[in-house]
Amino acid sequence: MSEELLYAGKAKSIYSSDKADELIVVFRDDITAFDGGRKDVIPGKGEYNAKVSARLYALLEEHGVPTHLLALEGPVRMRVRRLTMLPLEVIVRNIAAGSLVRNYPFVEGSPLDPPLIVIDFKDDSRHDPMLNDEIILALGLVTQQELEELKQLARRVNEVLRDLLAGLGIQLVDFKIEFGRDVDGRIRLGDEISMDSMRLWDSRTGASLDKDVYRFEKGDVLSTYGQVAARILGGE
Ligand code: ATP
Ligand code: TYD
Repeated sequence: MSEELLYAGKAKSIYSSDKADELIVVFRDDITAFDGGRKDVIPGKGEYNAKVSARLYALLEEHGVPTHLLALEGPVRMRVRRLTMLPLEVIVRNIAAGSLVRNYPFVEGSPLDPPLIVIDFKDDSRHDPMLNDEIILALGLVTQQELEELKQLARRVNEVLRDLLAGLGIQLVDFKIEFGRDVDGRIRLGDEISMDSMRLWDSRTGASLDKDVYRFEKGDVLSTYGQVAARILGGE
């Protein structure tokens, strides 16, 4: 079976592969913000995000979190298990920032203990509205048991990533993950975890080390992503 483009999203393209239950994710250099309202191309960005995602997914697998990762096949290509994605954006927050401080009276930078889990409906046409447990169950998106599993996995992902990044001098402020069901119906982490989907602050200076550099024009996006990738990938 040859590779066929199945879906082109805002930052990644998904291709079929030689195996029916495996896909190829290509991390592109496109970057968008504000619901696609701003778009640019940053040559080299896709490679940093692919490598960081692969490294973090391998680490999560070592810590018992099932992911879609099979292998990185070149600088921007990741072979993954085909998942039926859940239309959910699971956001974990350790420190108040972003939409949480825009929409609620949280003070930016204040710690959230225990971390907050917020789940949005992944539907661009509706601008990804926030869900609650009752709405998720009423829509039949997952079962009660799967919902508990998603939250438990999200907490575990947070612990693993927060510890890793803290050791590299980076505060994990918040991040977004997506899950899907594999061919056996098992919930696995899909999509990506990268500088596009995490909010990261330098522990010493407080400087943004993520897509906020692009959103709010805080500096050189590629060099920021490169610095984070170098810290995470170390001597790889
Ligand atoms: P957003 O930026 O809001 O996440 P998008 O669809 O534009 O939306 P991209 O990251 O560009 O996002 O596209 C990747 C698409 O591939 C997403 O829709 C994601 O849910 C889907 N996807 C990720 N991993 C898998 C997988 N293992 N199997 C099937 N689909 C996947
Ligand atoms: P959030 O503060 O809700 O949104 P914004 O960054 O637009 O103010 O984002 C929380 C975290 O989740 C942040 O690290 C970015 C990530 N995220 C995504 O990657 N994609 C999304 O569609 C959303 C809503 C958040």
